[in-house]
Amino acid sequence: MKIFMDTANTEEIRKYADMGFVYGVTTNPSLVAKSGRTQADVIPEICSIVTGPVSAEVISTDCEGMLAEARKLAAIAKNVVVKIPCIPEGLKAVKVLASEGIRTNVTLVFSLPQALLAARAGASFVSPFVGRIDDIGGDGVGLVADIVEVFHNYGIKTEVIAASIRSVSHVNEVMLAGADIATVPTKILDKLLMHPLTTQGLEKFLEDYRNSQKA
Ligand code: E4P
Repeated sequence: MKIFMDTANTEEIRKYADMGFVYGVTTNPSLVAKSGRTQADVIPEICSIVTGPVSAEVISTDCEGMLAEARKLAAIAKNVVVKIPCIPEGLKAVKVLASEGIRTNVTLVFSLPQALLAARAGASFVSPFVGRIDDIGGDGVGLVADIVEVFHNYGIKTEVIAASIRSVSHVNEVMLAGADIATVPTKILDKLLMHPLTTQGLEKFLEDYRNSQKA
């Protein structure tokens, strides 16, 4: 499973990109607003930090509007992937964009049929929202597992991005479910990396080293 960062904060992306495990980034209008910058300002910078896919979302809800936005976004950098909501006009746009060689990430996916239809329309990625499904009493990880199984059964190449990740357990579970990618918010990435036994073990090694130098 590849790791994407789910943020539009370029400072956070730089910090983790330096560690080498960040393959791509996903943003959405809420994350861009939280960064205090505009999409036009932030996406080129993110694309210069990571070489893998960087999702930038359209805000139009009609096919023509989405296509116009998507073409502009795709022109920013080769690694831009256009994020399109899973609605009928969105899938029409996905079909056209696929024929133009523009990669898409179909977002706000909450069911197995939505994932299948998005993939059949030509999506490069689909994003089931694990946390938001759990929030309404559903089984977000179960949906990821079902999509992975169906795509495998039918030889569908669309990659599954486990999105709306809220905990370390979510990351563990979607990894075991076979997600191609987990897009992880920074506060969860911090928790993935650090382990109290690593911190304690390192402190003890360094203490023993210092003591051995005094002897
Ligand atoms: C996915 O690409 C979205 O940006 C994101 O995962 C949404 O997560 P949220 O439910 O925490 O807003």
